[in-house]
Amino acid sequence: MKLKSKLPHIGTTIFTEMSALANEHKATKLAQGFPDVEVDPKLQQYIIEAMNKGLHQYAPMAGLPLLLEALERKINTRNNRSVVAKEEVTVTPGATYGIYTALATIIETGDEVIILEPAYDSYSPNITSLGGIVRKVSLQDKDFSVDWNAVKAVINDKTKAIIINTPHNPTGSVWQASDFEALKDCVRDTNIYIISDEVYEYLSFDESKHISVLEDDELYERAFIVFSFGKVLQATGWKIGYNVAPKKLTAEFRKMHQYLAFSVNSLGQYAIGHYLMNDSTLDTLNDSFSKKRDLFLELFAPLPFTVPFKSQGSYFQLLSFEGLSQSFDKDYAILLTKEAGVASIPVSSFYEEKKDQKLLRFCFAKNEDTLITAANKLKQYFKV
Ligand SMILES: Cc1ncc(COP(=O)(O)O)c(C=O)c1O
Repeated sequence: MKLKSKLPHIGTTIFTEMSALANEHKATKLAQGFPDVEVDPKLQQYIIEAMNKGLHQYAPMAGLPLLLEALERKINTRNNRSVVAKEEVTVTPGATYGIYTALATIIETGDEVIILEPAYDSYSPNITSLGGIVRKVSLQDKDFSVDWNAVKAVINDKTKAIIINTPHNPTGSVWQASDFEALKDCVRDTNIYIISDEVYEYLSFDESKHISVLEDDELYERAFIVFSFGKVLQATGWKIGYNVAPKKLTAEFRKMHQYLAFSVNSLGQYAIGHYLMNDSTLDTLNDSFSKKRDLFLELFAPLPFTVPFKSQGSYFQLLSFEGLSQSFDKDYAILLTKEAGVASIPVSSFYEEKKDQKLLRFCFAKNEDTLITAANKLKQYFKV
């Protein structure tokens, strides 16, 4: 038998590749976007409590009532929207799944979906494998802002959706209110859905404030909004997130969800539900992570990289090696992993056509010691 691949041009993700290389060379891992900071002991305690209570069976399809209640409260206060969680919130096994399921809910063969590159690498293969067509629009080179005229230019009768992501992986840019106004101009009087990837919602720095699609009536009526507990609770291995969408869209989303995952592990839902209700320190994240970004920039300042754009949010800071090497960015990232012992992600991996801007993405969501070790290894390598 011969299997015809639905994704013939896709190999292993760069994250798996660079993590494996980092392991092989015992490199400091600033590549894949996972923190190495301690998970809040209170959250860990709730998992033990859930175990002791014997919560080992299926949770309800849409989510554990306690967690849905906590999310309703969170959305009402933080995102300024009064939602009925039973009808509008679905707990998912992570945001990647939430994005796929939202796409599966709406895409019909030949539908076009706009993505803004560089983009999180699941979007494009998800669209393609569902029979959709990817319409790529590049962010502007200098500050990674959206070229709204370019977005308008690709919209046509076949456009089914646009995927947006703020705070942004990999660039660390954060959308302004004017971006949301421009987005509204693009989708008004159309049938275009919005899939809003807000996994770094608690991580926006300095004056940049995260604005959620939840805050805007006109956008919310056509939106699937995707969140990840992994990213904000520093527990990416838990793979739990949630999707918020208006009642009618949620009903369709759940038709897909009930035959994909059906439900999400009960232990994690119990723990996160109790944590959000009683102990959440999520509102302090902006502060602690902006300090990590500042430490990263300070430690890396003596190195011969340049900072093309100071991260305004997310786990990531881009550095440019323009002038240091002519190598393709992926080859340079491999070289630094093998020879300097520090792993990063080449930004070309976030473009389907592997556009090389001589940029590397570093994850600063790390302990102080990890960042110091990485900087010292690079200082030794560059002899500075
Ligand atoms: C922009 C973006 N969306 C989604 C995800 C995935 O989140 P999860 O681990 O909850 O699937 C990531 C992880 O790196 C991401 O950077």
